[in-house]
Amino acid sequence: MGSFLYIIILLLLGIISAVHSCPPSDRAALLTFRAALNEPYLGIFNSWKGYDCCHGWYGVSCDPITHRVADINLRGESEDPLFEKAHRTGYMTGTISPAICKLERLSSLTIADWKGITGPIPSCITSLPFLRIIDLIGNKLTGSIPSDIGRLSRLTVLNVAENRLSGWIPRSLTNLSSLMHLDLRNNSIYGTLPTNFGKLRMLSRALLSRNRLTGRIPYSISYIYRLSDLDLSLNKLSGSIPPSLGNMHVLATLNLDGNHISGTIPPSLINSRINILNLSKNAIEGYIPDSFDERSYFMVMDLSHNKLRGRIPKSISSATFIGHLDVSHNHLCGQIPAEDVSLKDRKESLI
Ligand SMILES: *[C@@H]1O[C@H](CO)[C@@H](O)[C@H](O)[C@H]1NC(C)=O
Ligand SMILES: *[C@@H]1O[C@H](CO)[C@@H](O)[C@H](O)[C@H]1NC(C)=O
Ligand SMILES: *[C@@H]1O[C@H](CO)[C@@H](O)[C@H](O)[C@H]1NC(C)=O
Repeated sequence: MGSFLYIIILLLLGIISAVHSCPPSDRAALLTFRAALNEPYLGIFNSWKGYDCCHGWYGVSCDPITHRVADINLRGESEDPLFEKAHRTGYMTGTISPAICKLERLSSLTIADWKGITGPIPSCITSLPFLRIIDLIGNKLTGSIPSDIGRLSRLTVLNVAENRLSGWIPRSLTNLSSLMHLDLRNNSIYGTLPTNFGKLRMLSRALLSRNRLTGRIPYSISYIYRLSDLDLSLNKLSGSIPPSLGNMHVLATLNLDGNHISGTIPPSLINSRINILNLSKNAIEGYIPDSFDERSYFMVMDLSHNKLRGRIPKSISSATFIGHLDVSHNHLCGQIPAEDVSLKDRKESLI
């Protein structure tokens, strides 16, 4: 009888600890994920052993209620003691295994700054309904952004910057109604921006510089009333600047430099909330608008390398602040009206 009870208690304890550790299917998925990667210097995967992947596995955390894997957080640049001991940043090769798509409750997937991870973003990640964060910055991923990315209705962060992605921006992207932070910088993404980009109403940062985007800047961007940072620089965008960008409530940074943008500078940009404005290296023509007033506050206003002509407008002296003004390499003439405005490349500006 005594030994019978003892066995029952042992069984119960076994069940309880099994309930509190990660399910075997999540553990198996993590081990398959790990097998496709090679991290030679830090040993971050040395802790991935034993049955309970929810405790002590470096970069893995589980939901406290469901005990399912919720976060994978592997950063190659970190202040973790592991990195300090090794005196180096992380480096990892291999690929991102589609096995991660078996982690049905995954909410955050960060595999960032490992420099050497190649291969595609597994397209099956769009079947993970709880995903909120995808951060794969700083690897060597190729292929395109999964075409049905728009299914991830909870996604708030999509950061795939500094990779080697190509392909178009998927049309479904504008269905990401929770998206706040979009970072596609420094890839080889081509094609046009979706005309309905403005559907991304929650977006506050849209960083798409250093790609191969063509076509016009969609007018609908100005409907994104939370957008504070728009960086479309170093692409091949053409057409003119939508004047409505100057009426946006919180837009503070507008970088359109290094494109093929033509047309004139909308007067609305000059007395807007924008305080970093870079329009350098385009084909912008006409006059600098005479619409400076006390709302004009620019840390940076770079209008250099365009086809601007005429004089620097008189109203520039009514700007509250202009920190860095560059109007060089244009066809400007005449005097600089305000002595208190610091002009970079003063002489060139008058050529
Ligand atoms: C966006 O979502 C709507 C509604 O769910 C759907 O009908 C449409 O096909 C989606 N668009 C794309 C391009 O996936
Ligand atoms: C862009 O990515 C390339 C490699 O893909 C890298 O060599 C370069 O330094 C990156 N540029 C910037 C400005 O980060
Ligand atoms: C503006 O953009 C140009 C071209 O990309 C760049 O060279 C320049 O440094 C930028 N200006 C400022 C002030 O950042």
